[in-house]
Amino acid sequence: MPLSTFIYSGYPTGMNLEIAGNVQGFKQQDGILTIKTAEAEARVYIYSPTIIRVSISKNFNPDDPSFAVIRQPLADFDFDESSANIDITTPALKLSIQKSPLRFNFFTAAGSSLSEDDARFGTNWQGERVTCYRRLFEGERFIGLGEKTGNLDRRSAAYVNWNTDAPNHTPESDPLYKTFPFFIGLHSGLTYGLFLDNTHKSYFDFGASTDEETSWFGADGGDLNYYFFGAQGVAKIIEDYTWLTGRMEMPPLWSLGYQQCRWSYMSADEVLNIAQTFRKKQIPADVMYCDIDYMDDFKIFTWNKKTFPKPKQMLDKLKAMDFRLVTIVDPGIKVEEGYKEYDEGIEQDYFAKYPDGENYTGYVWPGRCHFPDFFRGEVREWWGAAFTALTQPGVEGFWNDMNEPAAWGQNIPWIVKFGDKFMPEVRNAYGMQMARATYDGTRKIMGNKRPFVLTRAAYSGTQRYSAVWTGDNTGTDAHMLLGQRLVNSLGITGMSFIGVDIGGFSGNPTPELMVRWNSLGAYTPMFRNHAIQGSKMREPWEWGKNNEQTIKKDIEQRYKLLPYLYSSFYQSTQTGLPVSRTLAIEHSFDGNVFDERFQNEFMFGDAMLVAPVESTKLTEDVYLPRGSWYRLSSDKFYEGEQIVNVQAPLTDLPVFVKAGGIIPMQSVVQSTNEKGDGILQVHVWNGREANSFIYYEDDGVSYDYEQGIYYKRVISFNPIEKSLSLSSVEGSSKSRFMQLKFVLHGFDGVKLQEEIIENKSGEIEVKL
Ligand code: GLC
Repeated sequence: MPLSTFIYSGYPTGMNLEIAGNVQGFKQQDGILTIKTAEAEARVYIYSPTIIRVSISKNFNPDDPSFAVIRQPLADFDFDESSANIDITTPALKLSIQKSPLRFNFFTAAGSSLSEDDARFGTNWQGERVTCYRRLFEGERFIGLGEKTGNLDRRSAAYVNWNTDAPNHTPESDPLYKTFPFFIGLHSGLTYGLFLDNTHKSYFDFGASTDEETSWFGADGGDLNYYFFGAQGVAKIIEDYTWLTGRMEMPPLWSLGYQQCRWSYMSADEVLNIAQTFRKKQIPADVMYCDIDYMDDFKIFTWNKKTFPKPKQMLDKLKAMDFRLVTIVDPGIKVEEGYKEYDEGIEQDYFAKYPDGENYTGYVWPGRCHFPDFFRGEVREWWGAAFTALTQPGVEGFWNDMNEPAAWGQNIPWIVKFGDKFMPEVRNAYGMQMARATYDGTRKIMGNKRPFVLTRAAYSGTQRYSAVWTGDNTGTDAHMLLGQRLVNSLGITGMSFIGVDIGGFSGNPTPELMVRWNSLGAYTPMFRNHAIQGSKMREPWEWGKNNEQTIKKDIEQRYKLLPYLYSSFYQSTQTGLPVSRTLAIEHSFDGNVFDERFQNEFMFGDAMLVAPVESTKLTEDVYLPRGSWYRLSSDKFYEGEQIVNVQAPLTDLPVFVKAGGIIPMQSVVQSTNEKGDGILQVHVWNGREANSFIYYEDDGVSYDYEQGIYYKRVISFNPIEKSLSLSSVEGSSKSRFMQLKFVLHGFDGVKLQEEIIENKSGEIEVKL
């Protein structure tokens, strides 16, 4: 008798454990292989040679909804049946479905085991809670799950997904604001990915509590619906995952500049004054923020008439200084008759409800609030259209906060309904649906202009609509390092455009920490300084003359790197590879990468390695992986695969460039609106291997690039032929750079540095 059958029948019935037992029959129709056992049904779909979906349920939802997945499965596929198994083979993968009892085991095409059900327990239910137990391989590591605390290697840790307003969270708190039920397993030199597409509260245990035998994942309800990724290489798995769930679109260029925020700048005068100070001090910046106090009594889509009496005038003045404005919006609509959004929401019945039809009321900043039901298309349209109150005066960025959704006391009752679902089933997707409504609405209103959308809560696929930030951190070194791990981990789960509150939201950072964190901010996809109400002012000039100079220098460095950064974002739009990349993406089987001393290091784009350093340390051990490296600030050369102890003064965060690295830069500008000197500086660091970089430009603000109006060329370095070349230009746009300058690093005796040449659109080649 198979063990699972034994356990199943042997359990006292009160435990209510049901294990998917033996296969009783199967059929294939319309691209779905349906397998029946006495307890459940499993459905298998193929999405591509490297992506197989398995969904197991006692009672399938006929709508089969997904907020994340945007692709369709193949219409048909072959399988082989033997007495013991049903085997599905693609060019890359084999799924062997064991019949008695039902088990799902994945292999490479060559037959190496990638991932297997735990032979004893497989998939089972306790009430509605469904869990899949899987074999834990020797030395298996796990990365992913997005915004999760803890180590880069998640082995021996357990996590819960339940989007939560988490003020005062610590480097150990779980859950936080977002849900990305996608992880990558690494063992035996092999890689696989698994995405549990289920918005219920979900659980992942990577061998935390099972005597190193079993890992498991599951959810409080719904189907055990997962996508298995079998590509070899973490980057390829990320590419597949973002093919399935979508990729970000090009962000507005201005949103990659320096962003200054605070809860709150209390008046239009204060906002303008801060913006002016940046210009006066010649510290580059692009974005000012208005937190909740710009509103009248925290009513969304209103302006405070006393403190922000003429929003358009303020925005015109900001625009004249080349600043853009981002304003916050929360989901909670204040209960107040006469307030437009409240009246309309009541009239049209747009708010989340108790089962008896009464609107749910919870407390947030405005006091008593109702919550828009973003799961309904007409509610999203209504919400999206309301942004004219912000876009008309000229706001271009929309900061979606408190959308876990947050209510004082945290727990929205489980009987509250969103769409036709109760809160527990869809809570984890609420923030994503709010971001979607905001993106769709503002994109429509703004016509050909790109909106910038930022959200705190998210679910897999949110990259299609919005950037994210990691919520209310604290001004400590531990939080700075945690923030970097969160950024690196979110990058594995398809989110490339990420920020953390530089300086820490709560508390007051020391000047040293502020300086250090700002240096790291220059190498963070979204670079935003933000602080809680009541904290000391945080702007770059609040830290003494010397520190101001260092902060300014690092912000200038950010602006120099914008051509490289914008091209790196383009890469994210094409392949899903994030801008900030844990070293585990490229060096997945190098144990040092997971060492707690080095786990925060990351690649910033293709060429730069950044090592975060606590503000109290002025030297640091850095692990340089395979390849050879140059320190960015000195061009000092290092061989890779070694730990090096380097100087790390507050003025010089350890940043390294890979040998062969190509980094297009520009001279310092005060904002992304400024033209600059028109010279694109192509920096190249000598190396033994050929390398290339896809350089991308467009107007930075519109969707014209979707019509082919962009400028793209491949920059190549060939050490054998001793040449640097630029392919002829693809796309119908002109470059904003009229001239080119090659800047060489580590090339003894080669003198090209001073040469400035015309940036013509045909092929360009220079011999070294
Ligand atoms: C939340 C946000 C924070 C914001 C504050 C006031 O705590 O996470 O960024 O400043 O609300 O709106």
